[in-house]
Amino acid sequence: MYISKSWGALALATSAFAQTVTYSPGDEVSYAVNVPASTAENGSGDIYFQISGPTTMSWIGFGQGSQMKGSNIFMIYANADGTNVTLSPRLGTGEQQPDADTSAEVTLLDGSGISNDMMVANVRCSNCNSWSGGTMSFTDSTSSWIYAYKTGSAIDSDSVSASVSQHTQYGTTTLNLQNAAGGSSSNPFTSTADSTSSNSSSASSSSPSSASTASSSSGGGGGTPGDVNMVIMAHAILAPLAFVLFFPMGAMMIRLLSFKGVVWLHAGWMVTTYIIVLGAMGMGVWIAVVTQQLDTYHSIIGLIVVGALLLQPVSGITHHLLYKKTGGANVATYPHIWWGRAIVTLGIINGGFGLQLSDNTTQGEVAYAIVASVMWTLWMVVIVFSFAKSRRTVGRIQKKDIYTVEMRNGNSSTERMRYAASIEQNSPPTNYYNQDEWPTPQASRRYR
Ligand code: HEM
Ligand SMILES: *[C@@H]1O[C@H](CO)[C@@H](O)[C@H](O)[C@H]1NC(C)=O
Ligand SMILES: *[C@@H]1O[C@H](CO)[C@@H](O)[C@H](O)[C@H]1NC(C)=O
Ligand SMILES: *[C@@H]1O[C@H](CO)[C@@H](O)[C@H](O)[C@H]1NC(C)=O
Repeated sequence: MYISKSWGALALATSAFAQTVTYSPGDEVSYAVNVPASTAENGSGDIYFQISGPTTMSWIGFGQGSQMKGSNIFMIYANADGTNVTLSPRLGTGEQQPDADTSAEVTLLDGSGISNDMMVANVRCSNCNSWSGGTMSFTDSTSSWIYAYKTGSAIDSDSVSASVSQHTQYGTTTLNLQNAAGGSSSNPFTSTADSTSSNSSSASSSSPSSASTASSSSGGGGGTPGDVNMVIMAHAILAPLAFVLFFPMGAMMIRLLSFKGVVWLHAGWMVTTYIIVLGAMGMGVWIAVVTQQLDTYHSIIGLIVVGALLLQPVSGITHHLLYKKTGGANVATYPHIWWGRAIVTLGIINGGFGLQLSDNTTQGEVAYAIVASVMWTLWMVVIVFSFAKSRRTVGRIQKKDIYTVEMRNGNSSTERMRYAASIEQNSPPTNYYNQDEWPTPQASRRYR
């Protein structure tokens, strides 16, 4: 009950991929970026951003880059009649007033304006993936941006090269553009502007366009084919399901169930889960290639885990075949059990790295941590208890069997010791009552 509830929260958290990332340095100034799904896919195309702040600012700037020099900068200030903003694209040349840049393909969109003492600019940029001085990958999880603003009187100019004086506040930030990816709106901020922390005026100057309604629905489902977010979501649901639920369940069933064919239930269950994992890995590799994240811990460990698990069916079958021959634990038994436990555990941990990578909500990370640790602990408890139980059972078998051996052979202490030693050698590492699979005293005697 509790588990399924947390699981629901996790699924919800992974599906809640925002289409905009927002950064607010304070003073009611706020910046937001959206990368439409097709742009995220193609690596180039239109992106959208919003710059907003109070009219107590003389100008507000936002730029692509990590320092003024070489940055693609966008400044907004009040236009000549004070009803709208002037959008001024500029190139940073150093720590001095940046020059106007006519090569930037930027457009001021509907919803921009000055009202309620707020300046808002909704902007589309068609060539922001590169400029003279730098480039930006639209799938970068740590894209660099600079910002600055100046308190003071309105500039009231329609010129994109109006002279402005130095900022009063400035800084840098990184934005995870993967969280900004999604949608196909031609003006994504007309409906979301009033949901930012600032009390934006755009709500009063425009009503949500039909395009933005379309974008909000494509965030949750549908979307363009091959939408990165959809694949991320599928990957982020299938892989945790397999590692956190299905693999531990398959491991526990061989300890808890004791009917004859349980080994084949285990085998089928685990191999099916492995196939799910292969699918999730395929998606993961595609995501990692598209978003250039193949060199992250999560990607590398994921590939190692999936590769390492390939040994499990091999060692499982080998164990089973040898077991059928010898009736006891054999060379493949411990490798299968312990390799399986270790690699599945590593896979569970790697899910946490994945969530970290996607910059998910802490709510999602906490839900994952809870479900994963509950499942893993349950698994360990089952292992420990069935191990303890098997020791007791082996003890019983040993006593009874030694007794029958004694009855038959007279009280030969050498015989008794030899028999006890053979039971010890062949004793199951954990309980596995299934007569089909675990050494019976008869089988042991045959083995001997
Ligand atoms: C991807 C595939 C597989 C995985 C991940 C896997 C994993 C595991 C794990 C973790 C255990 C230990 C259970 C515990 O925690 O106590 C286990 C036990 C076992 N597995 Fe598998 N397994 C896989 C496939 C198979 C196959 C194909 C077979 C045989 C046909 C098999 C036969 C067994 C048997 C007989 C045991 C019990 C061994 C013993 O306790 O002596 N497994 N498996
Ligand atoms: C981007 O990709 C979409 C389909 O994925 C395609 O329709 C569109 O023309 C591409 N745009 C550019 C600029 O390549
Ligand atoms: C500001 O200018 C943009 C671009 O021309 C326009 O779409 C918007 O409606 C204007 N806002 C106001 C309040 O006039
Ligand atoms: C926010 O804007 C609304 C009008 O759109 C106005 O009534 C309200 O007073 C404003 N609130 C603040 C805190 O500025």
